[in-house]
Amino acid sequence: MNTKRTEIANALTGTGINSKIIVKGWIRNSRGNNYVLFVAMNDGSSLHNLQVVVDVEKFDDSTRKKLSVGSAISVEGILQKSEGKGQDFEVIAENIEILGTADPNEYPLQPKRHSLEFLREIGHLRFRTNTFGAITRIRHSMIYAIHTFFTEKGFYNIHTPIITGSDCEGAGEMFRLSTLDPTNIPKKEDGSIDYSQDFFGKETNLTVSGQLNVELACMAMSKVYTFGPTFRAENSNTTRHLAEFWMIEPEVAFNTIIENMDLAEEFLKYLISYALEHCMTDLSFLQDRLKQEEKGKPADQQTMPLIDKLNFILDNSFERLSYTEAITILENSKPNKKGKFKYPINGFGTDLQSEHERFLVEKHFKKPVILTDYPKEIKAFYMKLNDDNKTVAAMDVLFPQIGEIIGGSEREYDYAKLQQRIEEAGIPMKDMWWYLDTRKYGSVPHAGFGLGFERLMLFVTGMTNIRDVIPFPRYPKNAEF
Ligand code: 4AD
Ligand code: MG
Repeated sequence: MNTKRTEIANALTGTGINSKIIVKGWIRNSRGNNYVLFVAMNDGSSLHNLQVVVDVEKFDDSTRKKLSVGSAISVEGILQKSEGKGQDFEVIAENIEILGTADPNEYPLQPKRHSLEFLREIGHLRFRTNTFGAITRIRHSMIYAIHTFFTEKGFYNIHTPIITGSDCEGAGEMFRLSTLDPTNIPKKEDGSIDYSQDFFGKETNLTVSGQLNVELACMAMSKVYTFGPTFRAENSNTTRHLAEFWMIEPEVAFNTIIENMDLAEEFLKYLISYALEHCMTDLSFLQDRLKQEEKGKPADQQTMPLIDKLNFILDNSFERLSYTEAITILENSKPNKKGKFKYPINGFGTDLQSEHERFLVEKHFKKPVILTDYPKEIKAFYMKLNDDNKTVAAMDVLFPQIGEIIGGSEREYDYAKLQQRIEEAGIPMKDMWWYLDTRKYGSVPHAGFGLGFERLMLFVTGMTNIRDVIPFPRYPKNAEF
């Protein structure tokens, strides 16, 4: 007899039809009468449940009582074609082993729609819902597609450090890392903290970006990328910010800003078409879910169906324009003139907010936008200074509903100019000597960007809160689970 577990995804395609199989998983739903029970099981391998038909007479009372939502079971039975509606195959149970019970009076999940807010409160159990199962499978597919994309293009993956002594973005939004006793911090004579006694003998923090390190590898391997967790202590309590998020950062030697934009656009389109090709079941489910959620809302507040929205990105080339051109459009825009923007546009130098980015994408161009050549004052020190001495060769990719999904640039590769930018930014030179060294030894033009993985996930899944597209979100006042 076959004693190997059959995954539910396989059973649902009829693998092992008319023979005995063993399936294991968690009960999502249990209904029926005194004669027959229909138990819906799920093991994560598919969005769809497997129906188990239980002839009540064949099982003792205690087993039957434990067949409630949330319990884990192992079922041995014959896989056969289902005559009922809603499924092609079902299992006729011969043996049922209860692996773990879930008291129905306590188990918080019921076979009904729970609010996402409630599910965040029970983050330890939310994987057991259709929505989070779908998101988890899509997230995995996107990770796989990212590594596949770069592998096929001949890039090398670089593991950049999570513990660093530098602040790549220069925004000072770092989580400090220390093993010093907080109740007895060693001080120097001048009263400042004596970090020489700390674990690394210097001040350290969790990285905000792997870019500076991946640039070092780029200066020998030419095409590299890092994909790791990054940490930002910015107090942004929004639906698009996390304190811990994952970022994909490619860096390419000899590339200009144009080639950088081409790579970003090709990359995003590849990932979206991969999702359409490999995750259709889960995407359709999320599309329907969104439709339900938006039911009753006025037409202008309803979004494009998810799958149309994804195809729409593939069918359009991204609009490319300079920051300065965008400022002119925004200055003359209706919402700006009518005072509808929360942050009014104040000419060249205005830092763009997501309301401005979304106006450009959703209202003005009606497609993704890449903005370039931002004022140097509002961008990071490493970006290449343009000939006008005012702007840098930056690029932000803006998406509908998200705003900025990618930020990148051509890098300053001139030693003296970079040194000056570091000084202007007030970054201690002693922390930067190794980064500057790359501009001293065989410096070449190069460019790269960072894609926020959860921002991509927001877009691909159509979810509206970034806290729902990462398994364990970290945000201000929350590090539960
Ligand atoms: O624009 P950012 O800050 O760029 C960098 O970190 C560069 N070092 C990247 C590079 O050139 N290698 O961040 C890149 C992207 C943003 O466009 C956004 O998608 C995402 O990271 N991001 C966040 N995602 C979630 N929560 C946050 N708090 C985020 N901050 C940035
Ligand atoms: Mg940015």
